[in-house]
Amino acid sequence: MRQHVNPLSSFFQLPLELPGPEQLFQRPEQPIHLDIGCARGRCILALAELNPDWNHLGVEIRRSLVASADRDAQASEHGNVRVLFCNANISLAQWLQALPPGRLQRVSIQFPDPWFKRRHRKRRVVQPELILAIAAALPTDGDLFLQSDVLNVIEPMVALTELCGGFSRPEADARPWRDANPLAVPTERERYVTEQGLPIYRVLFKRNQHQLPQLTLLESRWQEIDNPAEAISQRA
Ligand SMILES: C[S@@+](CC[C@H](N)C(=O)[O-])C[C@H]1O[C@@H](n2cnc3c(N)ncnc32)[C@H](O)[C@@H]1O
Repeated sequence: MRQHVNPLSSFFQLPLELPGPEQLFQRPEQPIHLDIGCARGRCILALAELNPDWNHLGVEIRRSLVASADRDAQASEHGNVRVLFCNANISLAQWLQALPPGRLQRVSIQFPDPWFKRRHRKRRVVQPELILAIAAALPTDGDLFLQSDVLNVIEPMVALTELCGGFSRPEADARPWRDANPLAVPTERERYVTEQGLPIYRVLFKRNQHQLPQLTLLESRWQEIDNPAEAISQRA
């Protein structure tokens, strides 16, 4: 099995200024689908081909994958897809904040690296700062799609998304997990898991109209749930 990149290592802490929609896409005014941790980008590239009226951005921390994925993206005839290298936890918040209101319409986080050990929880991609940045950038009814084949991975993602208060689950989105992928193209990991006949856990959240909490408040509430022992020792 390949070694996951440790997003906390110093190399990946360097913030990168990601180009805005005008520099990325032929028709920057189109709605954006952002796929976080897109690996070789096959899913986001195929979605871009199917949906020329949307723009698509994949971000990925493994530089070697980004080089070939973005070469394919830049060759796309619609000019509606790019794949960029970055640590989503370091460089995305600023990019999201600079987007024109309503431009971002969909975010997907699919089969993120399985850092399910408690001592590795800070390496998980869904962290309070990122979920707040996504929620602040999505308009009401914007989509946040999460899927994983590892329960210990998706459960904390869902718990943190619900704790931030900015997302609701539509009535039709069956609990505990929705059956089908709302996206027209499965990811590489999804194909593999499906071929093995293993379960996949999915949720499609919709941005609601609730106000978002301050980051420090969400962080401390999240710590009480995710790591109660540390939260108690910090209070003492
Ligand atoms: C298990 S793979 C899944 C890839 C793809 N989404 C799929 O479903 O086939 C998770 C991907 O997320 C990337 N990743 C992990 N942490 C990241 C971070 N902080 N920022 C950007 N990408 C990250 C990994 O390098 C890896 O390519």
